[in-house]
Amino acid sequence: MIPITKPTPENIAEASRMLQQGYLVAMPTETVYGLAADATSDQAVARIYALKNRPRINPLIIHAHAVEALQHQVIWTPQAQALAQAFWPGPLTLVLDKKPGASLSLLATAGLDTVAVRIPNHPVALDLLQALGRTLAAPSANPSESISPTNAKDVQTAFSKTTDLRMILEGGPCSVGLESTIVDLTTQSPLILRPGAIDAAALADILKMPVAYAHQVSSASLKAPGMSLRHYAPQHPLRLNTEHVGPTEALLAFGPHPLPGAAVTLNLSPTGDLTEAAANLFSYLRHLDQETVTGIAAMPIPDRGIGIAINDRLQRAATSAKV
Ligand code: TXA
Ligand code: MG
Repeated sequence: MIPITKPTPENIAEASRMLQQGYLVAMPTETVYGLAADATSDQAVARIYALKNRPRINPLIIHAHAVEALQHQVIWTPQAQALAQAFWPGPLTLVLDKKPGASLSLLATAGLDTVAVRIPNHPVALDLLQALGRTLAAPSANPSESISPTNAKDVQTAFSKTTDLRMILEGGPCSVGLESTIVDLTTQSPLILRPGAIDAAALADILKMPVAYAHQVSSASLKAPGMSLRHYAPQHPLRLNTEHVGPTEALLAFGPHPLPGAAVTLNLSPTGDLTEAAANLFSYLRHLDQETVTGIAAMPIPDRGIGIAINDRLQRAATSAKV
């Protein structure tokens, strides 16, 4: 088993050495755990694609501890500056034009002329990035198409047989629990390619212009290559917006009135708090998926704020279920 390691200064230094040698380290972020590699090394980045079994056309997010580190790699704009000031470090990824002469691995950006960048808000990730002094390419630390990990143990379970992943840094449960909001700033007007904790209204407020969700704009949804519908797959069939549940089903409940009659129930937030529900979503889906039931039924989630992101993930999980 790959060891789960306490993020002491010595262990962070050791993780940094592993990354310099081209190996992978799993690191906590506030959204989900990431599988990190030196973003400038083709060999290291190739290990990410191999371990995740990820299609090479699906580019990675580049993480840094400071804006200056990203300014060598992307063309920085006033819009980027405004959003960075408002939301970084935090669960927001910006898609920007790649800078000529950027040192990023072509594999990391899947050969695109744009790059997705973010500064994560987790002390362990920031310490590691600072110790390394380089940017890290880091997708969620799960095999392609499965549910993203929100704690160190789920990373350990996902990748049991590999020598490429040397260390899993312990960082506790992820506070946000859903992947970052991705906003494309290279389009005519800003476009959310993946909904997350920071919603369109919050972005529009800072940018002083309307921000749309890609799924509301026809044909635009093709722009985030990784946003194929097949994603976050549980093994059990998942049905959404349910108003009744059968005795052989597991219930993913929300709010003060969970439906009665399920074989097993987990409540995302008994008080109806969407932030709490987001933080619980992936681990509860994993738990219910391990129950001996005929399927999982999910109660409706209000489609506002981070609820939009929860519904996005639930819809993908329902579409991709291996029935
Ligand atoms: O919260 C997060 O963003 C987590 C943590 C670890 O930081 N990372 C994450 O990475 O979710 P991943 O690889 O699972 O998702 C990256 C998404 C993919 O959908 C990919 O297509 C998109 O970012 N992406 C990357 N570069 C892009 C680009 N240049 N243009 C459009 N989409 C891009
Ligand atoms: Mg992912």
